Amino acid sequence: MTDRIAHQGLAARRMDAGSAAALIAHGMTVGMSGFTGSGYPKAVPTALAERIEAEHAAGRPMRVKVWTGASTGPELDGALARADGIELRLPYNSDPIARERINRGEMDYLDMHLSQVAPMAWQGFLGPLDVAVIEVTAILPDGSLVPSSSVGNNKTWLDRARAVILEVNSWQNPALEGMHDIYYGTALPPHRVPIPLIRPDDRIGQPTLRCDPDKVIAVVETDAPDRNAPFTPPDATAKAIAGHLLDFLGHEVKIGRLPPTLLPLQSGVGNIANAVLTGLIDGPFHDLTAYTEVIQDGMLDLLDSGRLRMASATAFSLSPDAAHRINADMARYRERMILRPQEISNHPEIVRRLGCIAMNGLIEADIYGNVNSTCIMGSRIQNGIGGSGDFARNAYVSVFMTPSTAKGGAISAIVPQASHVDHIMQDVQVIVTEQGLADLRGLSPKQRASLIIERCAHPDYRPMLRDYQARAAKGSFGQHAPSLPSEALSWHQRFMDAGTMKL
Ligand code: COA
Repeated sequence: MTDRIAHQGLAARRMDAGSAAALIAHGMTVGMSGFTGSGYPKAVPTALAERIEAEHAAGRPMRVKVWTGASTGPELDGALARADGIELRLPYNSDPIARERINRGEMDYLDMHLSQVAPMAWQGFLGPLDVAVIEVTAILPDGSLVPSSSVGNNKTWLDRARAVILEVNSWQNPALEGMHDIYYGTALPPHRVPIPLIRPDDRIGQPTLRCDPDKVIAVVETDAPDRNAPFTPPDATAKAIAGHLLDFLGHEVKIGRLPPTLLPLQSGVGNIANAVLTGLIDGPFHDLTAYTEVIQDGMLDLLDSGRLRMASATAFSLSPDAAHRINADMARYRERMILRPQEISNHPEIVRRLGCIAMNGLIEADIYGNVNSTCIMGSRIQNGIGGSGDFARNAYVSVFMTPSTAKGGAISAIVPQASHVDHIMQDVQVIVTEQGLADLRGLSPKQRASLIIERCAHPDYRPMLRDYQARAAKGSFGQHAPSLPSEALSWHQRFMDAGTMKL
């Protein structure tokens, strides 16, 4: 036994990553831990990828179906995709090699709402789960597991899998013990009951994951960091977007539609989201809370500033600097952070009850405010819907943010018609670009179109959008949300043909 593996029976099942990977066979479905680059297994997937490469070299097929919490790291998605070892992947992916394979049609990808993955696994729609490969911080004497830097779908994978491989990562801080809240009260209809979470800081479960020791076929020890992508400081565009959004929130407080503590924040990841969180440090708001998916650098800064009272999420998504900061003081942060299973962090019932302020990125929005978050030119997957749908439909106010152009101005983020729709206009209440903010609540489609064009579109594209809007108002089949079908996607076609949406 070791400090990290305090269960005698499980200590006896220690082996190296290669031997553990050899227990996974061609065609199996493997449920891995991991969410936005944290808490994913590092050694077994890499060893599995090496084995798959060897099998392919010997002329034998070998591919597996991979389920995770969300995106992972290069040692998992990157290695397995490079080896052409993934038959199907779900849910969210941001790995560039996997993305290329999906877009070349070499790998199936099931892009799901993150809150729905665990229920769908329980409902049986996804098929049986052969093996779970789960990173943990430690195994306690009774065999229960201290989760690591993400919880994701681990509870469900451990319960549903026929066999379990554990990676015990000593890089993960032992002081993580006590930070997690694992709720075991979910059920399938007709046995569902209300989830008793009323405030973002409520703890409704237990700090550890349950696992039947008899199912554990291997325990692998690792000492490897999470992906921890470096953090880019906000640029002028991100700062401008953050500025508009902070002014909007201030206005909502002033007229009494939001309390001075705001409502629980949900924030996507990336430059713009970080700029918003950083901006809140100097804003007038206090005693803020977050009920969100990931805790990123900006969230940590906000906690340190004293503005944010606590944050609830399912995972960390930190830069190396921030990971270092949090690791150096984990016992203190543990008092103000809670990591939960993603079916709870993203649960529509809770998001609606708490009244979250949802702030997510978009790829393009059309003049009516239908939002495309996932598919470039309607067909090329960028990442996936992630939790944006879980939050947007159920939020108190749902905000989508983007620079007004992409690819050096060759693409307008505001288009006559979205080439793919993830969030229908009813789920999109506020759109913000560096040009300005459009508050679309209470407006008809035609009113929304005018506001989005005038407030959010780049000046280079505004005349073209106005022209389309005016002609659609005359030539449309109906006048509810006027459109010219033969022209609506011509901007995308022009970009694909000529490299620019401009005329
Ligand atoms: N047309 C074509 N390409 C576009 C585009 C558009 N309208 N808008 C952005 N892009 C490209 C960018 O050029 C960039 O390409 P590159 O990687 O080749 O440089 C890429 O898409 C990413 O854009 P970027 O501006 O860096 O945005 P981002 O990192 O803020 O991500 C989303 C924006 C929409 C892709 C991202 O927020 C996302 O995946 N959202 C869906 C999931 C989500 O909302 N998660 C949080 C919920 S909890």
